[in-house]
Amino acid sequence: MAIDMELEAVLRAPEVYQAPYPPKVITLANGKRLVVREVSRRDVPVLLEGVRPALTIERDYYDIVGVRLYAELLGWYRYRVRNEYCIIGQIDGMLVGIVNGRMMNEDIGISLHTLAIDRGLRIGAHLFAAKMEHHIEYLGQKEVWITAESPIGFRRWMIEYGLEKQTDYQHELGGATSYRLTRELYFAAKPRLVVGDRPVPKELLDVATRAIIVADEDTITQKICGLKGR
Ligand SMILES: CC(C)(COP(=O)(O)OP(=O)(O)OC[C@H]1O[C@@H](n2cnc3c(N)ncnc32)[C@H](O)[C@@H]1OP(=O)(O)O)[C@@H](O)C(=O)NCCC(=O)NCCS
Repeated sequence: MAIDMELEAVLRAPEVYQAPYPPKVITLANGKRLVVREVSRRDVPVLLEGVRPALTIERDYYDIVGVRLYAELLGWYRYRVRNEYCIIGQIDGMLVGIVNGRMMNEDIGISLHTLAIDRGLRIGAHLFAAKMEHHIEYLGQKEVWITAESPIGFRRWMIEYGLEKQTDYQHELGGATSYRLTRELYFAAKPRLVVGDRPVPKELLDVATRAIIVADEDTITQKICGLKGR
């Protein structure tokens, strides 16, 4: 696609420098090692392949979360979203979950989406925790604004972290009710919810960075819905 760079410079959302998220490894309940790491804009096309199967899965609101995440990742790829970042989870190189967010400004972080492909292992919960860790500890923000699009998300974020409801703001995800994670709430929840070891052993990180492997559509659908589509 030919791009008029002069016009493009006008259209691109402005961005600030964002401190990197250092990778970590989490040993899951089944003994598998989940590598949690930040990815770059160049990785978006392969991530979109991993999200695409969710677009038609109604179960547990994967469709609405999938379609919004897809749009946000594409928006980041095309420089149409301000200050976005994306963190993924991989097991043996395989993509098993994605989270993204953005800096609204220096102080306020916006939590965008969390999508778990492998289920029953709290991979989504671990990735959400990594996202909060990024905003508070690495981007050094004062608070994160969060909303929930599904009952599981509500349980995992609002209830597990005891988030504060904000009556004065609408979340940018469609104006839904916004909740706030303050630094105090984050550090209170951290010993219980934010886990992982650093540095990631070299051989493990090498496997993760060599390629983001995406399962085929049937496999992803089966992982999300369970064998019987339960
Ligand atoms: C919300 C989400 C990220 C949480 O991920 P997670 O922490 O890894 O949790 P899971 O989805 O694996 O499991 C949630 C519950 O459903 C159960 N479950 C549902 N379907 C399952 C399946 N196919 N396999 C295994 N467990 C399943 C789990 O046992 C678990 O029960 P628990 O809450 O008692 O532990 C994930 O459910 C998801 O991606 N949902 C769709 C998108 C979404 O709602 N995102 C958040 C928007 S606010």
